[in-house]
Amino acid sequence: MRSLDEFATAKLRELERNSLRRALVDTTRVTGIWMLRNGRRLLSFSCNDYLNLTHHPAVKEAAIEAVRAYGVGAGASRFVTGNHPLFGELERRLAAFKDAQACCVFGSGYLANLGIIPALVGANDLVLIDELSHACLWTGARLSRAVGVPFRHADASHVEELLAERRRDHERALIVTDGVFSMDGDIAPLPALAETAERHDAWLMSDDAHGLGVIGGGRGSNFANATQADVPLQMGTLSKALGAYGGYLCASTAVIDLIRNRARTAIYSTGLPPAIVAAAIAALDLIQREPLYAALPLEKAKAFARAAGLPEPASPIVPIVLGEAEAALKASTLLEEYGFLVTAIRPPTVPRGTARLRLTFTAQHPDDEVARLAEVVRSEVLAGAASAIAAQ
Ligand SMILES: Cc1ncc(COP(=O)(O)O)c(C=O)c1O
Repeated sequence: MRSLDEFATAKLRELERNSLRRALVDTTRVTGIWMLRNGRRLLSFSCNDYLNLTHHPAVKEAAIEAVRAYGVGAGASRFVTGNHPLFGELERRLAAFKDAQACCVFGSGYLANLGIIPALVGANDLVLIDELSHACLWTGARLSRAVGVPFRHADASHVEELLAERRRDHERALIVTDGVFSMDGDIAPLPALAETAERHDAWLMSDDAHGLGVIGGGRGSNFANATQADVPLQMGTLSKALGAYGGYLCASTAVIDLIRNRARTAIYSTGLPPAIVAAAIAALDLIQREPLYAALPLEKAKAFARAAGLPEPASPIVPIVLGEAEAALKASTLLEEYGFLVTAIRPPTVPRGTARLRLTFTAQHPDDEVARLAEVVRSEVLAGAASAIAAQ
């Protein structure tokens, strides 16, 4: 169809003009930290494999054994014949780790959020969403057809104001937020949000994709403080620190039962391959057995930030906001010349004018390489950004 291709070409040109066109780059992850890209060996600071478990021998072995025993794909939705007993084992283990009654595993974190939110709220209900929440929380909120209202980033007092003003107009209210913010690395004020939610009979849901395995002794962001925050809907993924794939929700038995019956992305999608579930169980084992190892990514991020002269991070994610997309792309290319892979993050992943480098630190990053990266960032990236601002 000519009009279809003309539409696509015009859209792509527009993206190109704004430095927002994306292209896939072949990348072979040779180990948990080293990659091959464009024929070069690069040290990655752009993976969410915080504990490098994608390449851990025990995790790989668990997957290989399960493939041998049970085949590759699940063959059907979990509600038909795809519910291998490993699912139940993983769900029991996750629920216990997150101090919840029950758990439901989904095909991915993205699918989880698209299934959970519309299963709990609908038209005429209220969803309050942190303005910097991950794209899939926004999509889940939109799909639910509830009235969606963003609140100021990490601002529980704004949630209080919005609920005081609007709660009475809606039967149900849901507050959704990242636990650890994926592009900023800060942690949501979960204790304050939980108290506000309780006062207004609103339900609190956190997406802890980047908290599980690395924050709060590995148990996630609602365990980050001395007192555990009461988050009745704890969502997360198996695809980051666990090094596998898939998403989950930990909640009460009643809520999980409802989710199993109502979440369309769990019901109408093929179950995860049993080997991936086996890998996630092996990864969870390691995290529970070795809390000191789970603490390493944050320690490395803090050491980097100290050396580069950046504020102390709360998680292994360290953003360096540079402004325009072009500036972020240039900084990424510069770091690649030094052998570091740090991808540029541009709108719409982050708000306009806040394109950035997003660095992620992992347990196995060598200390001398972290120090070398900090030196390059301090002397070339940050110094360059400061002189560009001064010249404006
Ligand atoms: C905060 C957050 N939630 C959900 C997801 C989606 O998880 P998955 O990659 O398992 O689909 C991501 C992944 O980027 C994320 O950062």
